[in-house]
Amino acid sequence: MDAPRTPTPPPSAAPPAASRRTLLTVTAASAGALALTACGAESGGGGGETPDPGVATGEDLAALEDVPIGEPTFARTGGGGEAFLFRSDETTVTAFGTACTHQGCALQPAGVELRCPCHGSVFDAATGEVVTGPALEPLPTVRVKIEGDRIVAE
Ligand code: FES
Repeated sequence: MDAPRTPTPPPSAAPPAASRRTLLTVTAASAGALALTACGAESGGGGGETPDPGVATGEDLAALEDVPIGEPTFARTGGGGEAFLFRSDETTVTAFGTACTHQGCALQPAGVELRCPCHGSVFDAATGEVVTGPALEPLPTVRVKIEGDRIVAE
């Protein structure tokens, strides 16, 4: 007695279904790659709009005694400008914008560095240079000077 036979599709019927599935998989993978490429282009190296610190010439930023040597110190002017001040020694003070040059997030002081909580960029608080990306551009400099016991914008 013969075993019951299961009808099988003709050999040419199976490949189209497999090809369609393969095509969908390849298409989904390509779309993912394109999405990653687009994301990488957008968040890869910065170049986004970094807000101007908004500190005008002659504006008072802080009392010298309120900016400890070796510690980045946030300062806001009466006009709403913002900067991180950094005293390397008794007579040297530098200042930089407070927004990350990658995509503009507010930086936070950490030791002698300024760190971005958004994607992890790190800047040298004394020079404004990038220590770790993804940011590529240094922080905008705010020109300052010591005038008596105050730090003022030049
Ligand atoms: S905004 Fe992306 S690292 Fe700062």
